[in-house]
Formats: sequence, C-alpha cells, structure tokens
Amino acid sequence: MQIKVEGLRKVFGNSTVLEGLDFDIEKGEFVVILGPSGCGKTTLLRIIAGLERPTAGRIFFNGEDVTFKPPAERDIGMVFQNYALYPHMTVYENLAFPLRLKKVPKEEIDGRVKEIAKVLKIDEHLYKKPRELSGGQRQRVALGRALIKRPKLFLFDEPLSNLDANLRTEMRAEIGRLHREFRTTSIYVTHDQVEAMSLADRILILNAGRIEQFADPLTVYNKPASAFVASFVGSPPMNLIEGEIREKRFISPAGWWVAVKTSYSGKAILGFRPEGASLEDRGIEGTVVHREILGHESIVYVDVGESVIVSVKHYGIPPKVKERVAVWIKRYYLFSQDGRRIQDNK
Ligand SMILES: Nc1ncnc2c1ncn2[C@@H]1O[C@H](COP(=O)(O)OP(=O)(O)O)[C@@H](O)[C@H]1O
Ligand SMILES: [Mg+2]
Repeated sequence: MQIKVEGLRKVFGNSTVLEGLDFDIEKGEFVVILGPSGCGKTTLLRIIAGLERPTAGRIFFNGEDVTFKPPAERDIGMVFQNYALYPHMTVYENLAFPLRLKKVPKEEIDGRVKEIAKVLKIDEHLYKKPRELSGGQRQRVALGRALIKRPKLFLFDEPLSNLDANLRTEMRAEIGRLHREFRTTSIYVTHDQVEAMSLADRILILNAGRIEQFADPLTVYNKPASAFVASFVGSPPMNLIEGEIREKRFISPAGWWVAVKTSYSGKAILGFRPEGASLEDRGIEGTVVHREILGHESIVYVDVGESVIVSVKHYGIPPKVKERVAVWIKRYYLFSQDGRRIQDNK
C-alpha cells in the first residue's frame, strides 16, 4: 500500500505534538519511525491507524483520502508493545479470532491458522493458553494475529521493548524475514537505533514532532542532516563540540583548532564519530580519563580541555588512564548553532 501524509498536525490541549508532517511511503517499503520518548511516534502511528484524528492534514492510502475512515475499514494489522492476547483463549483461538470476525469459512480459518503457526514456529503450542507461553512465544502469537488477516499495511509500535535482549535480537530477525517473505508495507516505531538500522528501508527521524531526516540507514549514518540525527544514530554517539569557525578553522573553547573546508564563519558545532578518529602522534592533545575494552577494539575517552571529553575507537592495546595522547580526526561534520548541517565546501 502506498501512503501519503500531507500537512499532518496534532494538538493536544495547548501542546502541539506533531508540527505539520509531509512524507510518502512506497508500496512494500519498511519504514522505521525513530525518535526519543515523547516525540510523537505513537500519536503519528495512531493517526495512520485511524485511532486518533489529526488536528489538520490528510492521510492517503493508494491515493484515497482515508483521514476520516474508521480503523476497521483501513486493512491494517497492528502489533503493540503489550501484545494484548485474550488470556482465556488458546493460541489457536487467538489466531482465529480476527478471521471469525470477518466471517471467513471454518475450513479456511483452520488452514490459515496452521499455516501462520508454522511460519512463526508456534505450531506446537496451538492448544496452550497465553500464560503457558514465554514472552517471545506470546509476541509471536501477537505477530501471527496481525499477519493472519493478510492486511495491506502493518503498524508496529515498539513491539519488542518488553522482551529481553536475546529474544529482541531473535524477533528482530524474524520480523525482517517476514517482511522479505510477504513484502507488506510496514511502519515500525522504535526508540532503538539498532532496530531502526537493521530493519529499515528508510528511517524517518522524529524530534519534538518534526521530521529531522527521512532517508536510508547508511545515508542517515554517513550524512546526518542535523546534530540531533548525528547524536541519535551510532554507538557510542558522535562527539559534538561547540566552538567557533573563523577563517577555515574550527576553534574549540580549550583553544585547540582543526582546519575545516568551509566558507561559513560564526558559532558552530564540530562532530566526529569515535570510529572517525584515531590516537596518533599528532592531533588534539589530551589525557585519557576512561577506557572500555571490548575485545580486539576499545573505546578510549580523552579529556581535550575545558571539560570536553571525546570518545575514540582504538584497535590493539589501549593507552592507560592518565596517559597523554593525541586525537587525530579523520572524518568530521560541521553543524551551525541551531544544529543544521553545514555542507563542506572549499
Ligand atoms: N491523548 C493524549 N492527550 C494529551 N497528550 C497526549 C496524548 N497522547 C499523547 N500525548 C502527548 O503527546 C506527546 C507525544 O506522545 P507519544 O506520541 O506517545 O510519543 P512517543 O510515542 O514518541 O513516546 C507526549 O508529550 C504525550 O504526553
Ligand atoms: Mg510511544
């Protein structure tokens, strides 16, 4: 299903939660909406589902205006954080329920329940009650209940956040596999950048009800549109240092400077990723304050003056705490004071 969102605004009381969003989603695309808690992700998803009315703006499904269409008529499958299975029904009955509502013939229901149970590897548990299942199995049943209707659009709202880390990774792979198999247009809300990077065809990054960037994962990582995006995607996050650009030099509050290729001048933010810098015998001098040894690589935290601490990825034996080192920046980003990206130019 092709989706178009036009001038979408949502106001609760006197607070504006969505500020006027415009975007399109292609048929078969897997779009992840990524942003911090409270930025408006759930509100946006509920409006697309028809569970909430927008204050202004329109939603189109395949060119048809569905802004005021009730949820049941939108051909949507939804999976939420708390999977809300019927506790008194077996897994079989939970899966069959959406089809019974649609008055699908009994034999067809039976075939589809068994088929979906097989796909989701819950076919051994069909006659159990939800309380007899593990968290991961329950989430599979919830997924199955959304899949079984064969909807044109899937909406997921942080469906994995109640699972422990291992299960989360497993279910993430499962959701990716299901999408490759069925190619159903999907919108997936999360605040977890790893989920976003690994599942998305495109990531829509939302901050305080505004779109910061809408692009594929590598573009978001390599060409962040703003300091917000840069700080939200990547782990450990990008180092961001406030300073000033004068005559093609970024000058830090501590006095050190870096040559930059830009004609911009004024207050600015210098960004570089831990993997975009290295410890060399040249560069910004500082003192090691902390290190995290991760195996063949480490993250070394260096105080470069005026309480600015930067993280640098290091391969091999890391320097010790209190040792003097120099940080060489291989790849940097510049942002203006309001966080917008300043493009490199000569
Ligand atoms: N029904 C509501 N009434 C009033 N405020 C709401 C309502 N729903 C959400 N909000 C507010 O809208 C903002 C965004 O909420 P939400 O969409 O749930 O964010 P997210 O899912 O990104 O955490 C929050 O400040 C929240 O308190
Ligand atoms: Mg939410």
